[in-house]
Amino acid sequence: MMSSFAFKAITAFLSASATTAQLIGKEQTETHPKMAWKRCTGKGGNSCTNVNGEVVIDANWRWLHVKDGYANCYDGNKWNATACPDNKQCLQNCAIEGADYQGTYGITAGSDSLTLKFITKGQYATNIGSRLYLMKDTNNYEMFKLVGNEFTFDVDLSQLPCGLNGALYFVSMPQKGFGTPGAKYGTGYCDAQCARDLKYINGEANVEGWEPSSNDPNAGVGKRGACCAEMDIWEANSISTALTPHSCQPEGYAVCEDTTCGGTYSLDRYAGSCDANGCDFNPYRVGVKDYYGKGMTVDTSKKMTVVTQFLGSGTDLQEIKRFYVQDGKVITNPEPTIPGMTGNSLTQAWCDTEQKVFQEDVYPFNKFGGMASMGKGMDLGMVLVMSLWDDHYANMLWLDSSYPTDADPEKPGVARGSCDIGSGVPADVESSSPNAQVKFSNIKFGPIGSTFAQPAGT
Ligand SMILES: *[C@@H]1O[C@H](CO)[C@@H](O)[C@H](O)[C@H]1NC(C)=O
Repeated sequence: MMSSFAFKAITAFLSASATTAQLIGKEQTETHPKMAWKRCTGKGGNSCTNVNGEVVIDANWRWLHVKDGYANCYDGNKWNATACPDNKQCLQNCAIEGADYQGTYGITAGSDSLTLKFITKGQYATNIGSRLYLMKDTNNYEMFKLVGNEFTFDVDLSQLPCGLNGALYFVSMPQKGFGTPGAKYGTGYCDAQCARDLKYINGEANVEGWEPSSNDPNAGVGKRGACCAEMDIWEANSISTALTPHSCQPEGYAVCEDTTCGGTYSLDRYAGSCDANGCDFNPYRVGVKDYYGKGMTVDTSKKMTVVTQFLGSGTDLQEIKRFYVQDGKVITNPEPTIPGMTGNSLTQAWCDTEQKVFQEDVYPFNKFGGMASMGKGMDLGMVLVMSLWDDHYANMLWLDSSYPTDADPEKPGVARGSCDIGSGVPADVESSSPNAQVKFSNIKFGPIGSTFAQPAGT
């Protein structure tokens, strides 16, 4: 179980890059795509004002080259051992580049929308997926405090098949990222898997101990990871959707090392300081198999509005509620049909019930403080993330198929979606669905009831 030595391996982000500044390349100017959103007051979504925002792509997707030339510092899934013999020299020898959002990464922003393409064949390389953050200005992420508020957006994921995940979520990242490139170059990511696939962590390179992935030609795992609380408002494709808070203690940005990281990237998933599994609401997983999908109650063959309410105040998060709006009609979240489960929203009682009914031996959400700790993570201020990805660890089967694959699909909690257990292999989805894409738009944020017309009594 969690022991105190794991916490000692964690250093606070205050120790950041005072000594070394990461260098910025001059080949491509960094120009953030503009994306406006709305801040709402009053009731019913009628009093909202435009906020001029911008988005930035994460540092991991960027070209890293030697400071006085074009040689790669990172190539494929390996670091250049000459330029990067250790974390410190790597930082001194290498520069991070600006991004050609559309040409290299297949990212286009409309006035209030963002479209992420899955595969983009650029001049030099083929790009797969992307991860972007909403910014307040050139050098600062927009910080959201979710408790007591409501977050609403439109999404079109009609072109996302099994194995892909068009995600919109929040993490407790630092507002300015790290070092000289800072938030402007998309630094500072962290999540509840204690991300170890990051090339830069805490303002330093993550080259030491880097192991190239065996099945991902672009990724690897470093010795260090970046942990923080994560609120997954939306992890979805056209087959399945999940709403999932993940707690951490501490809640804010924390660096872990090796086996004490836990999560997806570590041998012992449960050795870290974050909840890698989450307390989730997936309609299919709680027995409602005809609710979400193409032609169903929430019809994924067309655009929908997704409303998420965070009831409570201050750090006290009481309940997370979900509504959909499609063709002008408000659709409430369904009641589970699995015996022993009640309610159509996430509360601490829901999570306790889930653990019991799904017979989860380990339930890290509660171990790391449950809803109470999630509320504290939210109170730190969270950054909005939008991403499109495929899954080199579990083929996204935890979202859209039966998982674990060797468990009886009739056992409560195993069936999560109608995708085949053989689906979602990255090499397959990359070759069969290169044109897959997700479009997020019309983001609204404000106090409960301010972003949409909530029917009385719901
Ligand atoms: C690695 O970096 C060195 C400079 O430190 C450079 O000369 C060399 O070409 C790079 N190797 C590759 C494969 O890019």
